[in-house]
Amino acid sequence: MADMKPKLLIVEDDEGLQAQLKWAYEDFDVTIAGDRASALAALRAEEPAVVTLDLGLPPDPDGTREGFAVLDEIMALKPDTKVIVASGHGARESALQAIERGAYDFYQKPVDIEALGLIVRRAFNLHEIEEENRRLADKVGEDKTVLGGLVTAAPEMAKVARTIERVANTNVSVMLLGASGTGKELLARGLHDASNRRDGEFVAINCAAIPENLLESELFGHEKGAFTGAVKTTEGKIEQAHGGTLFLDEVGDIPLPLQVKLLRFIQERTIERIGGRKQIAVDTRIVCATHQNLEAMIGENQFREDLFYRLAEIVVKIPSLAERPGDATLLAKHFLNRFSEEINPKVKGFAPDALAAIDAWPWPGNVRELENRVKRAVIMAEGKLVAAEDLDLDEDEDETCEALNLKSAREQVDRKVIRHALARSEGNISQSAKLLGISRPTLYDLLKQYDLHA
Ligand SMILES: Nc1ncnc2c1ncn2[C@@H]1O[C@H](COP(=O)(O)OP(=O)(O)OP(=O)(O)O)[C@@H](O)[C@H]1O
Ligand SMILES: [Mg+2]
Repeated sequence: MADMKPKLLIVEDDEGLQAQLKWAYEDFDVTIAGDRASALAALRAEEPAVVTLDLGLPPDPDGTREGFAVLDEIMALKPDTKVIVASGHGARESALQAIERGAYDFYQKPVDIEALGLIVRRAFNLHEIEEENRRLADKVGEDKTVLGGLVTAAPEMAKVARTIERVANTNVSVMLLGASGTGKELLARGLHDASNRRDGEFVAINCAAIPENLLESELFGHEKGAFTGAVKTTEGKIEQAHGGTLFLDEVGDIPLPLQVKLLRFIQERTIERIGGRKQIAVDTRIVCATHQNLEAMIGENQFREDLFYRLAEIVVKIPSLAERPGDATLLAKHFLNRFSEEINPKVKGFAPDALAAIDAWPWPGNVRELENRVKRAVIMAEGKLVAAEDLDLDEDEDETCEALNLKSAREQVDRKVIRHALARSEGNISQSAKLLGISRPTLYDLLKQYDLHA
C-alpha cells in the first residue's frame, strides 16, 4: 500500500533538484516543500520521520537564516524528527551548527544521490528503533506488569506470578527459592499486596544480615531490663507483622536454637518476648526465602525438617534471569525508563548493539545485576541512546584470538569498533567518522564492505 511507505519530507527550493530527489526515493512516500511555510504545513499534515532540509531557502536563498528557522521549528514541534541538512560549498560551519541545534546529519552539495540515500535510510532505521523503544517502554508500564511491579514476558515467570496470586488469599506459608537477585523479595511483597492482609504491615527481616546474638531479640522482642542494654521494652518483627505478612529472608541462616523457637511460634501462634512472662498472640502470614539448599542442610542436621515443612507448605521456585528468554531486554527497557526519568532524562533508549549485548549476557547476578548496570549506563550515557560499552559487559576477548587469520582478526576488531562508534553517536555518520579518526567516505566504504547498517 502506497500510504504505508515511510514518509520523507524534502525541503528544497531548486525545482530541478526537487524532481531529481523525488525520483530517487521511490521507496518513500515523498512530500516536497519549497519554503518555510509549506515545509511546516507538510510537517504538521504528514508527520514525516525524516526530513532533508536545504538551508538556503527563499527569501534568503544564499544564506542559512530561513533554513535554520525551519530546523528550529521542526525541533520544537516534533523533536524526534530526523533532519538531514544540505550544506553548500564551504558551509561546513553551518552544517555543524545545524547538528548542534538538533539536526541528525548533513550532506554536501552537490548532491550525491547514493550517499544521501544511505544517510536517509539510516535515519529511518534509527527513527524506527527509537519508536520501538518508546512503544515497548510504554507497554512495560501496562500489561506486562503483574504482582506489584513484577515485569516479565516469560511464561516461566508468569506461572510463578499466577501461583502466588492464587495462594495470596489463603494463609498457607510460602517458601521462595531462587538465586540472588531473581526477585524473591519483590514477589514476597507482591504476595502481601495481593492478599487480604494488604492493609496490615509487610515486615521483612534478613536473617543472614543480623548477628546471631541479636537475631532472637529482633524476631521476638524483649522486655525492659531483659539483658544489659535492654533499656526499654521493644516489639520484635514477628509482633510487628500482626495482621500482616512476615517475610523471613535467608531463612536458612537461622541458627538451630532459634529454629526451635520459631517452630514453636508457628505451632502455637503466640510469642513471648525475651524476659517477658506473658504469651502474646500474633496473627501473621509467613513467607520465607533462601538461596540455600535446605534439603541438603536437613541431611546435615543444619536445618530442622519439622520447621521446613511448616515453612514450605507451598514452594515456589523462581527461575534465573537466563532461564527467562526475552526478560533481560524487557527489564532493561523498564529500568532505563525509570532511571532516565530520575537521573538523566535525555536518555531515550538503547542502541541496537546494547540490546544485543544484554540479550547475550548470562546475568549471573540476575535482575539485581541488570538493574545496577542499567542504572550506571544511564548515568554514563553521553547521547540519547545507551551504547553497549556503557553497560560495561566484558566481551569475550578470545573472540579475536580464535580468528582465522590476521585479516579476519582485523575485520572483527574493525566491526566492533565501528559498531561502538555508531552506537555512541546514535548512528550519526559524521560524528562516528570523527570518533574513529577517519573521513566520512572511508567510513561509508567500511560500512559497505562489512555490510553494516543500523
Ligand atoms: N521481574 C521483575 N520486575 C521488576 N523488577 C524486578 C523484577 N525482579 C527483580 N526486580 C528488582 O530487582 C531487584 C532485586 O530483586 P529482589 O530484591 O526481589 O531479589 P532477591 O531475589 O531478593 O535478591 P537477593 O537474593 O539479592 O536478596 C529489586 O530492585 C527488584 O525490585
Ligand atoms: Mg532479597
